[in-house]
Amino acid sequence: MSGARYDDRGNRDLSLGNAAGMGTATPVKEGGKARPSAGGPFLIGEAMTGGYGAGPDILHDCTIAVDRGEIAVIVGPNGAGKSTGMKAVFGMLNLRKGHVKLDGEDITDLSPQARVTRGMGFVPQTSNIFTSMTVQENLEMGAFIRTDDIRPTMEQIYDLFPILRDKRNQAAGELSGGQRQQVAVGRALMTQPKVLMLDEPTAGVSPIVMDELFDRIIEVARTGIPILMVEQNARQALEIADKGYVLVQGRNAYTGTGKELLADPEVRKSFLGG
Ligand SMILES: Nc1ncnc2c1ncn2[C@@H]1O[C@H](COP(=O)(O)OP(=O)(O)OP(=O)(O)O)[C@@H](O)[C@H]1O
Ligand SMILES: [Mg+2]
Repeated sequence: MSGARYDDRGNRDLSLGNAAGMGTATPVKEGGKARPSAGGPFLIGEAMTGGYGAGPDILHDCTIAVDRGEIAVIVGPNGAGKSTGMKAVFGMLNLRKGHVKLDGEDITDLSPQARVTRGMGFVPQTSNIFTSMTVQENLEMGAFIRTDDIRPTMEQIYDLFPILRDKRNQAAGELSGGQRQQVAVGRALMTQPKVLMLDEPTAGVSPIVMDELFDRIIEVARTGIPILMVEQNARQALEIADKGYVLVQGRNAYTGTGKELLADPEVRKSFLGG
């Protein structure tokens, strides 16, 4: 793929991506925090500390956030706590410290279901579709919280991912990896979320399919849905990121704009393969 193809994705409001404190890809100091933009980002997990059940803390004072009009990307080594951070923001972890805010409101104590009702869509890293159900049934399941007519939304999703229209009556488990990820993203979009969280949406797909998925994700972002996503294709993801977080051992290691992180020699050497 060409490295420059995502450089100009026509973000409608560049001022959002680089407000107070997000301006440099400097290491986050011990005990320091990744700093949110002035006025507070649309969705933020702030200074989160916690782990699974009674187990040890996995996240340590970890902050991840996405603002309106943005794509924010979380990268870092395997086991860094990226998925744990996403689950924490979605309410699947009991935080010992820190909080989660959506549009300025503290939602730390809300269940994941309640967060969906408030406008959060989440595509987890694994088991993100119902393999024995058809594509269409998966999308219908995604709309479980809605009582209005879901057909227009389904048509929008089929317009975004035309292959899903062709395969709507096939079992989702029969689809290719990239197509399954489209089902997973489509399912999350069925709730008409105000913010979309994606954990490794391009896992296990070819570079060409990865490019296509990124293009679709950018398209979703352009419709006005901020996107917070984890990606193992760090370089490519940071190219489309307004904001990037490098997590290491459950902590913020580096925070900056995508461009800043891509240009940072330490980040390049340690996390982007030089
Ligand atoms: N359900 C769980 N119960 C207990 N510990 C868990 C659970 N899920 C993950 N962990 C632990 O939390 C730590 C962080 O894992 P996590 O899955 O968040 O990392 P990650 O950055 O998403 O990694 P990857 O790149 O492999 O997806 C690891 O030590 C892992 O073993
Ligand atoms: Mg993960």
